[in-house]
Amino acid sequence: MINIICFQIYYFNVLKLHNFHLYKCLCLLLQISLPYKLVVAMDRWVGKVAVVTGASAGIGASIVEKLVQKGIIVAGFARRVERVENLAKKLEDAKGKLYGLKVDITVEDDIIKAFDWIKDNLGPVHILINNAGISRSGSLISGNAQTWKEILETNVLGLCVATREAVKNMKSNNVEGHIVHINSVAGHKHVGLPHMNVYSASKYAVTALGDNLRDELRKNRLKIKVSSISPGLVITEIHEKAQLTGKEIQWIRNEPILNADDVADAVSYVLGTPPHVQIQELTITPIGERI
Ligand SMILES: NC(=O)c1ccc[n+]([C@@H]2O[C@H](COP(=O)([O-])OP(=O)(O)OC[C@H]3O[C@@H](n4cnc5c(N)ncnc54)[C@H](OP(=O)(O)O)[C@@H]3O)[C@@H](O)[C@H]2O)c1
Repeated sequence: MINIICFQIYYFNVLKLHNFHLYKCLCLLLQISLPYKLVVAMDRWVGKVAVVTGASAGIGASIVEKLVQKGIIVAGFARRVERVENLAKKLEDAKGKLYGLKVDITVEDDIIKAFDWIKDNLGPVHILINNAGISRSGSLISGNAQTWKEILETNVLGLCVATREAVKNMKSNNVEGHIVHINSVAGHKHVGLPHMNVYSASKYAVTALGDNLRDELRKNRLKIKVSSISPGLVITEIHEKAQLTGKEIQWIRNEPILNADDVADAVSYVLGTPPHVQIQELTITPIGERI
C-alpha cells in the first residue's frame, strides 16, 4: 500500500507539470485512484431555502438567478422589492422559486420579521448570502458622520443581524448550513479609491466577523460553513451610487472589471463543495487589476 502511495506521489510530482494526462492514463492502467478529486455539486441544496440580501441589483440579483435556476427556494431581501418581484416573474419557469421580501438591512426589526415569515412560509434556512452593501465617496478628514454610519449599519451591523437570525434558524432545525459573506479585496488591503475609506473599514470588519463566526460555530459544535468571497472591481450600480465624479466613474469603467455573474459563479463554487470542505476565503479579481 505504502509503495502504491509513494509511486502515486512520485509520478504525480514528476509528471504534473509536463503531462497530467499521461499520469491519469498511468493511474487507469494500474487501476489506482487519482490522489485528489474536485467535487462541485449543488444537488444537496435543491428544494432548500436560501436567503440573499441585496437581491434587487448587481451581484445579489445574479446570485439569486443562479440559485433559483439550480432549484433552490430563495428569499431575496431588498428595499426595492418590486425589482426582486420582477426577477421572480422572469424566473417563473426555473427549477426553484424566488420570493421578494421588503427589508431594509439597517432595520433590525425588518430582518427579524423577514426570518419569521420564512420560518412560517418556506421552512428551515440552509443558506445565507450576506450581499447587501453600499459605498460612499468622501474624505476621512472632512467627511460626514451620517454617511459613515450608513455604511457601517448596512455593511456591518445588517450582516451581523442577518447572520444571527440565520444561525438561530439553522441551529433550531439542526441544519448543516452555509453562510457566505460578500466581502471585497478592500477588506484585506489598502485600495486607495475615493469611495473606499470607511467602506474598506467595513469590509475589514467583514473579514474579522467571518473568522470569529467560524470560531464560534466550531466551539458550539455547529456544522455551518462560513465563506468570505472577496471580489475586485465589479461592474454594478454601486459605483454610481457612491457619489463619485463622472471622471472617477469613467476611470473605473476603463479598468479591468468583473461581471456580477463572475462573482455569482464563485458563490456557486463555494456552495458546491462537499460537506467536509469549507472554503474560508476566495479572492476573485479581473486579470490585470491594478487597485
Ligand atoms: N461592485 C463592486 O465593485 C464590488 C466589489 C467588491 C465587493 N462588492 C460587494 O458586493 C456586494 C453587492 O454590491 P453590488 O456591487 O452588487 O452593489 P449594487 O448593484 O449597488 O447592489 C447593492 C444591493 O444591496 C442592497 N442594499 C443596499 N442598501 C440596503 C439596505 N439598507 N437594505 C437592504 N438592501 C440594501 C440594494 O438593494 P435596495 O437598494 O433595493 O435596498 C442592492 O440590491 C456589496 O456587499 C459590495 O460591497 C462589490
